Amino acid sequence: MNHFEYRQDELFCEDVPVKLIAKKVGTPLYLYSHATLKRHFMAFYNAFKGIKTLVCYSAKANTNLAVLKLFADLGSGLDIVSGGELYKGLKAGFKPEKIVYSGVGKRADEIDLALETGILMFNAESIEELELIDQRAGLTGVKAPVAIRVNPDVDPKTHPYISTGMKKNKFGITAKASIEAYKLAKSLKHIDIKGIDCHIGSQITQLQPFADALENVKTLIGAIKTIGIDIEYLDIGGGLGITYDDEAPPLPDEYAKIIINRLKDMDIKLIIEPGRAIVGNAGILVTKTLYRKSGENKEFIIVDAGMNDLLRPSIYNAFHGVNPVVKKNKEEQLIKADIVGPICESGDFLAADRYVPDFKSGDLVAIMSAGAYGFTMSSNYCSRLKPAEVMVKKDDFEIIRQRQEYEELIKGESIPLFL
Ligand code: LLP
Repeated sequence: MNHFEYRQDELFCEDVPVKLIAKKVGTPLYLYSHATLKRHFMAFYNAFKGIKTLVCYSAKANTNLAVLKLFADLGSGLDIVSGGELYKGLKAGFKPEKIVYSGVGKRADEIDLALETGILMFNAESIEELELIDQRAGLTGVKAPVAIRVNPDVDPKTHPYISTGMKKNKFGITAKASIEAYKLAKSLKHIDIKGIDCHIGSQITQLQPFADALENVKTLIGAIKTIGIDIEYLDIGGGLGITYDDEAPPLPDEYAKIIINRLKDMDIKLIIEPGRAIVGNAGILVTKTLYRKSGENKEFIIVDAGMNDLLRPSIYNAFHGVNPVVKKNKEEQLIKADIVGPICESGDFLAADRYVPDFKSGDLVAIMSAGAYGFTMSSNYCSRLKPAEVMVKKDDFEIIRQRQEYEELIKGESIPLFL
């Protein structure tokens, strides 16, 4: 459930007409509903109440400071993959002891920053990384809290670009090699073994892959125990999918049930890292129709948002619902069209061959389910300004990120003297 709904013929975000915000702020713009963000976070929080669980919201899905602050205030932890996410997380008020750090390519300076901050744990993804963390911890004079990210070799049955827990993926250490990794970790002076971690992919719409991965990791925990290592934290990553089109993903309660059932006889603290399922349907991208044109056998609706604003359709062929901000008539006449942006690439589309209302120049269009991996994957490609972000709470709204201005496009650039 989310708080984007029609009242009469107008799309509202909570108690504010989307049209009003677009008029005040301009387009394109990302719009987030406070009530939906909160509701989705609490759904995970409450679903796992039966077992010691730390929900670590996955920053990469949406790192706006206001969004982060909302979750920090609700008691969330944070799953990060870079020094930048750590920086933003701390600015937003996350407690260091609730931050977990994943990612295959942590740099020494990023490891140092996390060590100085005193995060809950690193999810180490290779032997070399483990050795570097040990070395940096030695230099900093602390013990580094570490989990090994294992690759459970489970097919999450999602888009190949966002599956992460299969043998062919770059993530984690294979189950076989992880025993050796734990032995090594035990022998390293500046490593404190805290846990075990896995993450099998994203936009997963079935429960079975999660159950399979958990069984594999449980077997490993048993094997690790036989070499004298007790695991305090089990981090099962994120990945629960959402409805973009007609998918019917499990609810957080159903997801929690299959996990809790498998862990209730174990003395372990659980960590989950949901991202998309919390923010995805809490946000939309609002854009304006610029032009219409007809190709041969094709209608193009050209809007002022492009692949630099929302990349998902271009790189994953992802589906995002397309809705009018104001319905023109009850029985809206649909036409088959491509919704395309201003970028000079044919891959620059927000929807392809889609039945949509007959949008005309000036009409506002809502691109749905854009709260996750929307703004965070946006870029300045074609020197386009990044869009504004707005949060709505009941009948109130505020800009939580200003639209970029042209000066920002040259920030940090300089012309060398030899030119
Ligand atoms: N934990 C780890 C270690 C991850 O790599 C990810 C996502 C998550 C948690 C959160 O997964 P979620 O609950 O959001 O599925 N850009 C792609 C998604 C990439 C996901 C990468 N990792 C997209 O737009 O679909």
